[in-house]
Amino acid sequence: MNILLFGKTGQVGWELQRSLAPLGHLIAVDVHSTEYCGDFSNPEGVAETVRRIKPDVIVNAAAHTAVDKAESEPEFAQLLNATSVESIAKEAEKIGAWVVHYSTDYVFPGNGETPWVETDETAPLNVYGETKLAGEKALQDNCTKHLIFRTSWVYAGKGNNFAKTMLRLAKERKELSVINDQVGAPTGAELLADCTAHAIRVAMNRPEVAGLYHLVASGTTTWYDYAALVFEEARIAGVELALEQLKPVNTDAYPTPARRPNNSRLDTQKFQQNFELILPSWEMGVKRMLAELFTTQTV
Ligand SMILES: NC(=O)c1ccc[n+]([C@@H]2O[C@H](COP(=O)([O-])OP(=O)(O)OC[C@H]3O[C@@H](n4cnc5c(N)ncnc54)[C@H](OP(=O)(O)O)[C@@H]3O)[C@@H](O)[C@H]2O)c1
Repeated sequence: MNILLFGKTGQVGWELQRSLAPLGHLIAVDVHSTEYCGDFSNPEGVAETVRRIKPDVIVNAAAHTAVDKAESEPEFAQLLNATSVESIAKEAEKIGAWVVHYSTDYVFPGNGETPWVETDETAPLNVYGETKLAGEKALQDNCTKHLIFRTSWVYAGKGNNFAKTMLRLAKERKELSVINDQVGAPTGAELLADCTAHAIRVAMNRPEVAGLYHLVASGTTTWYDYAALVFEEARIAGVELALEQLKPVNTDAYPTPARRPNNSRLDTQKFQQNFELILPSWEMGVKRMLAELFTTQTV
């Protein structure tokens, strides 16, 4: 099986390089690749990459993920998150390839307290969400064999993440205010990559699983409680913190160019049933990431 991975250096892309490797012959590209075009600002270039490689499976982890920046460059976000996805989808359909793609809970308006199911009506609050929704539609309309995984609050051990930022601030400051009215599930890039590899194996034998799924770790939290867990684990590990007081605040305490949903809860029953998997709790993934961080002393 030939697998083409776009966006190999992102949080999820990096983990996919690991999890997809045992499935077949993997060709992984990113925006800087020279042999094959992996630049999503060039829809014709990425289509040409598909034509040349003729993969059985395409996994797309590339995206315009800068949520606030997208507000001031909507055309560029649309080009990366939708136009290039459409290009890839059309080429994939011609050769009967699968396309695996990631989307976001930001396609929803974020009201209420009920976890969103796949059939709920979408109504994005920001440009990023609009362009990601357009990407979903581009794939659904142009390629039969597709898997779309909507996820949320993605973190990875590699690079920057919320936990590392909180730890840095807690070493410098005695008081920290953290948002406590957004609810979601921190989801590890490792978990997404492992689930993707498993789902591809299932899809190869049961093409009827093609479709849209919600895929996040189990359980929910707020950024405030997430931060509290990070500090608790840090103290257990003997990390010295200056922090004395952690204050819960509402979203409007930190105005940002893009509006963000309060309710990011996603119902994952469809994914768990179709792929016969159990999604572990968000705490398990975050604690593992922190344990690795404390062991390597990179914070
Ligand atoms: N992060 C989250 O919290 C979150 C939540 C819900 C859904 N998702 C979705 O999950 C998927 C993976 O996200 P992630 O967290 O792994 O994001 P990420 O770390 O930002 O990865 C996105 C990758 O796309 C690359 N990219 C930027 N411009 C590009 C271009 N013109 N051509 C090709 N690649 C380009 C980025 O490169 P540079 O880093 O060099 O810019 C980066 O490597 C995306 O579809 C995202 O929308 C993410």
